[in-house]
Amino acid sequence: MVQGTVNWNTETNQEWLQNYVDDWVSFYRKHTADGEVASYIPILQEANRDHLGITIIGNDGMRVSSGDVEVPFTIQSISKVFSFIIACMERGVSYILDRVDVEPTGEAFNSIMHLEMQQLKKPFNPLINAGAITVTSMLPGKTSDEKLKPLFDLMEKIIGYRPALNVDIYESERDSSMRNRAIGYYLLETGFLESDMNITLETYFKQCSIEVTLDDLAKMGMILANDGEDPNTLEEIIPRQVARLAKALMLTCGMYDASGKFAAYVGIPAKSGVSGGIIALSPPRVRDEELPFINGCGIGVYGPALDDKGNSIAGIRLLRHIASQWDLSIF
Ligand code: DON
Repeated sequence: MVQGTVNWNTETNQEWLQNYVDDWVSFYRKHTADGEVASYIPILQEANRDHLGITIIGNDGMRVSSGDVEVPFTIQSISKVFSFIIACMERGVSYILDRVDVEPTGEAFNSIMHLEMQQLKKPFNPLINAGAITVTSMLPGKTSDEKLKPLFDLMEKIIGYRPALNVDIYESERDSSMRNRAIGYYLLETGFLESDMNITLETYFKQCSIEVTLDDLAKMGMILANDGEDPNTLEEIIPRQVARLAKALMLTCGMYDASGKFAAYVGIPAKSGVSGGIIALSPPRVRDEELPFINGCGIGVYGPALDDKGNSIAGIRLLRHIASQWDLSIF
């Protein structure tokens, strides 16, 4: 058990933590065999199901990284957190929340059933496909490039370079995603969409196809952990109110219909994507003992073998282990 009254941010202790994380990653890598790589977007099947990696970046500059950390992957549903943030920044929080709710569904991320069955006034939340597509339709701009510009700008500011679109994955989803088209038509019919449906779906597929690394996710998580402020420059990157809202949504809806279990057993805001990425974060904690990353951290996890809910199977188990060892839970 890694605990004790030590200052973790020293070279020796960082090395010690690194050894622990290396051990945990190689242990949980075996669990990738329990999951399946996503196949409903055909090209995602090409991912290596044995991959597992994690990067943790502390608000105080401490960094631990282990496993398959160099493999780029598409951001997929993790983009929904940031398109929601951009929509709130561009259109105002109340405008967006008037048009999309903040309630978990208990249904699969691409469920269409609840839209019709509950005669909704608005989609349940921005992190399921129906809500995310609605949010994307509210991004200002006429073309997908115009709509995505502020999202790329925000990401560039946080990660230090302009991320690229994975065109093969974009085209693979664009040409195969009949369910998202069905959701699009339903949203069009019920009057939820604010932009042309085809432009909205093109924008949505593109935002999901942005390529990132674990380092990028950890940096993005770190900004959220710090309520939207860059801990190095003290610049406000995301307004505090919006960052908090995003974290509340991540905690209640970020892992889809496994969000309750994730909150109970891991206890930190997180958001998964079907390519196997997870962004998570731990806000600064107050404890009697000096725990690792006590000043808060952002976490990126990648493991493309998924469980039946569409979340990285080994990634969740690894996060659960680390959260319990380092007492990361916010509760
Ligand atoms: O819309 C889709 O189905 C994908 N582009 C994203 C879904 C996703 O990442 C859900 N993840 N667990």
